[in-house]
Amino acid sequence: MASRFLLVGSGAREHAIAAALCKREDVQLFAFMSARNPGIEALCKKSGGEAVVGDIHNPAQVGDWAKAKKIELAFPSPDAVLAAGVCDELAKFHIPLAAPLRAAARIEWDKSFLRQIMDKGRVPGCPKNGFFRSTDELNGFIDSLGGQVAVKPVGLTGGKGVAVVGFQLKDGEAAKAYAREVLAQRIGGDGVVIEEKLIGEEFTLQAFCDGRKLLPMPAVQDHKRANVGDNGPNTGGMGSYTSEGFLLPFMTQQDYDDALNILQKITRILELESNIRFSGIMYGQFMATANGVFLIEINARFGDPEAMNVLARLKTPLADVFEAIAQRRLGKMELEWESKATVVKYLVPEGYPGKAVPASKLTIDEKKLKASKAELFFASVDQREDGLHTASSRAIASLGVGKSIDEAEKHAEAGCAAVSGPVWHRADIGTAALIGKKAEHIKQLRKR
Ligand code: AMP
Ligand code: GLY
Repeated sequence: MASRFLLVGSGAREHAIAAALCKREDVQLFAFMSARNPGIEALCKKSGGEAVVGDIHNPAQVGDWAKAKKIELAFPSPDAVLAAGVCDELAKFHIPLAAPLRAAARIEWDKSFLRQIMDKGRVPGCPKNGFFRSTDELNGFIDSLGGQVAVKPVGLTGGKGVAVVGFQLKDGEAAKAYAREVLAQRIGGDGVVIEEKLIGEEFTLQAFCDGRKLLPMPAVQDHKRANVGDNGPNTGGMGSYTSEGFLLPFMTQQDYDDALNILQKITRILELESNIRFSGIMYGQFMATANGVFLIEINARFGDPEAMNVLARLKTPLADVFEAIAQRRLGKMELEWESKATVVKYLVPEGYPGKAVPASKLTIDEKKLKASKAELFFASVDQREDGLHTASSRAIASLGVGKSIDEAEKHAEAGCAAVSGPVWHRADIGTAALIGKKAEHIKQLRKR
């Protein structure tokens, strides 16, 4: 059994991963971080490991440190780290990995590659799409979809580069103008993907994957829009929830099974057609529509905030699961899950997702926090001599767990109330009012 684990990354998602790994008592946690995350630092120290700050996107830096620390299993976590080839560098030193090599993570960092794989394997749930490197055929394609499109930079943009007609874009003409801007300014790389606009409700399905076998997790709904009622600009994610079971209140078992089938087919096609075995976390972002389930995107990692929801419910030690991924024996494993609902709410700096206020002090009332039954995970914060400060992005996530979504929501709110400083959060996430609206939306769509 491995005991020296390396985690690369330092957001709230990684804080939750660190906490889940440290539940197994023999784990010694080593973290390579881009900024000091006080939560991860404390877990490393307590477990007899170590945390350092460095350039997480520099494979040689991470590799040298991992070698020096005699790492036995590594989990590089964020998308940009996977795209930078950090796993490939660790693999050179024969360090077992529970995350994908760069070629496999391409399903996330190259949106056109994902659509090619889906076309090749006739994977269901693929919206009509086109990939463009120049403006020549762009307008005609947008017109052919009646102007009802999503415009997506081909590469990574931190979840903020996608714009959809009816939301961020007024109409087909605005979509053309934005697509031209993406190409001219090379936003997210060289190219733009245009997709038919899907109408429905989104959900996330994540699965542990060893290249062949997938072990799925409970479905999660993430709220990407900044403002109450799911309005405003897209963000990295303002909060998320699970119900007590594996489905969400607006989903059918068929939706869940169809989504899992799509992930399974993609895994198989990757291996058959491209000789790529994907090991790690496969994350599918889906839209449940009037015509079934469609795939919006695949990520090659845990979702943030979704990781916090599912890891709170995973009873099987995460360290065991990571080892099974690395050894390609997920087929022999069964996961145990707590039947509890979860709600995560992100506290973000005032001004986010635009220009956040300058770094400001945050205070956590420990007594209030304890009474709240919530758990806090640190994201983009800066631990200074005089205390905790905000940085420019999402600051702290508050996780509530309960018998029902209602109860979990109340705990998450109480956790938010324990933090004071210039931060705000979406009070509506996890409330019956917002979830009811989603259920009604799907009901109306599917009635037609
Ligand atoms: P992504 O970065 O691909 O997850 O896209 C960000 C958000 O844009 C998604 O969460 C959806 O809300 C929206 N989106 C992306 N693709 C589509 C599509 N084809 N139709 C409708 N909305 C979409
Ligand atoms: N929560 C969306 C993401 O992690 O991409």
